[in-house]
Amino acid sequence: MIDLKRRFQELFGGSPRIFRAPGRVNLIGEHTDYNDGFVMPAAIHLSTWVAIAPRLDQKLIVHSENFSETVELSDGAANSWSRYVHGVARVLERMGHRLPGANLLINTELPIGAGLSSSAALEVAVGYALLSISGFDLDRTALARACQQAEHEFAGVRCGMMDQMIACHGHAQHVMMLDTRSLEYELLPLPIDASLIVSNTMVKHNLAATGYNTRRAECETAARAFGCSLRDVSLSDLEDKRVGLGENIYRRARHVVTENARVQSAALALKSKNPAEFGRLMHESHYSLRDDYEVSCKELDIMVEIASRLDGVFGARMTGGGFGGCTVSLVRRNCVEKFRHVLTERYEKATGLRPEVYVCGAAPGVEEMTDDSNTGS
Ligand code: GLA
Repeated sequence: MIDLKRRFQELFGGSPRIFRAPGRVNLIGEHTDYNDGFVMPAAIHLSTWVAIAPRLDQKLIVHSENFSETVELSDGAANSWSRYVHGVARVLERMGHRLPGANLLINTELPIGAGLSSSAALEVAVGYALLSISGFDLDRTALARACQQAEHEFAGVRCGMMDQMIACHGHAQHVMMLDTRSLEYELLPLPIDASLIVSNTMVKHNLAATGYNTRRAECETAARAFGCSLRDVSLSDLEDKRVGLGENIYRRARHVVTENARVQSAALALKSKNPAEFGRLMHESHYSLRDDYEVSCKELDIMVEIASRLDGVFGARMTGGGFGGCTVSLVRRNCVEKFRHVLTERYEKATGLRPEVYVCGAAPGVEEMTDDSNTGS
């Protein structure tokens, strides 16, 4: 990780404030957040960092350390990564926040396009930083909404609220059981004797270019047939309409209906300290995403199968939007090192790709770093 303050000084001069927003791993509840359903993400330590200082003019000048590129956003020109920055600034201004010009330096530890919410971390870090230097009060849920809106309009992904909500409201050592309809949530402690392991298949996805928006449209077709959101549909309602819906739409809806039930059972399993039951639900979720929702891919399936057979594994599944990206495994603490080693070896042998494996604790949501030792250096 670079020394952000020093780098900022080299690029722009002056002394910036530093902010970070976390990536996330979703333990269970996939593709339910745009159906008013339940999700259970945790914020992770891999984060996006923003160093920022106001300018005297109205320009937004943004440097990405990862892309080695500087972009001036005052004229609205925005490329693949800067459109998120541009989008968040525009949406916040539309909400009535008059933002000053600013210099921003951005650096992320998150693998991009790997299903760990690098986009939401960028949006939330930038939005929080812009509001903070402007002296506006921060309502974190309103910020999450603004960031979701920016992603819809400026990145073309009709995402739900999960990623932005956890980046805003994450809590150390806790997962968030979120009702995406009311946006009420409960923080649940992670099992103390188990670790969350995120493994990157190294197959990149680009949600705007894959089936994400198509899946959302398929769910909307199903919801229209019921006259309510899929959150309110039961399995027996679904069976009754199977023929009318057609097999494809029926299976998409079946994933959403069964996944919502699994998230609720998973919350009970966590509360009753039953990691084995939690892990069983993770496996079921993966199979439903693979077979009914069809958002997995060969490499994700191979990795989940390898993980599931290793010692001390309670459960494993793909995580995030799919079509590539990462898996998440819940693994007994004393088996983590062996898991990491054997998974890497077997996955590489099966696919020719060397995975990246991260042992993750749950991290806090977006924050300003005030302690020098914690400024991303
Ligand atoms: C992406 C979206 C989220 C959610 C997941 C799938 O991460 O940004 O809103 O829909 O996919 O669960």
